[in-house]
Amino acid sequence: MITTQPPTVDDATMRGVHRTFVTGVTVVTTMDHGVPKGLAVNAFSSISLDPALVMVCVQRSSATHDPLFRSTHLGINILAADQLSTASVFASKGVDKFAAVPWSPAEHGSPVLSGACAWMEAEICERLQVRTHTAFVARVVGAEHSDRPALVYRAGEFFDSSRLHPA
Ligand SMILES: Cc1cc2nc3c(=O)[nH]c(=O)nc-3n(C[C@H](O)[C@H](O)[C@H](O)COP(=O)(O)O)c2cc1C
Repeated sequence: MITTQPPTVDDATMRGVHRTFVTGVTVVTTMDHGVPKGLAVNAFSSISLDPALVMVCVQRSSATHDPLFRSTHLGINILAADQLSTASVFASKGVDKFAAVPWSPAEHGSPVLSGACAWMEAEICERLQVRTHTAFVARVVGAEHSDRPALVYRAGEFFDSSRLHPA
């Protein structure tokens, strides 16, 4: 239950908490009236394997939000370590993002970026509006993966997953 009560934890503390969390970087895509749209997203999670459900959270103020909201399907591209420039392009606004990277449509039209270490196309089944963001829950209908090392994100910096040390 989301309430309108004042926050009990200040912004700086929450930012500090989030800066400790290590994620990959995805580019979430959709096709909007024949025009590819997409943004960089690290708020990605697997929900379950059977059924194959995943979730991404997208800020409502992003230009990609409304095209995603009215789509039936979305693409999730897990970026490879050598795709830092792709991450930067898709984290920016107002440029022709898809001119910068080769891509092709998946079966239901969602753009798949060449060179990603994995991709999924998923049918959107829930659009949970939570104030500033929408959590999209989607059922995976197509996917591929490779052995390419992933791009890793932590506290505003990017890393190469092939250079991680075993704990
Ligand atoms: C590493 C990284 C992770 C990001 N994760 C998210 C995210 O999970 N959800 C989101 O809405 N924006 C996220 N962003 C910000 C968007 O990619 C950014 O606001 C982008 O400019 C939106 O593009 P658009 O307005 O063209 O859709 C992330 C940015 C970076 C660099």
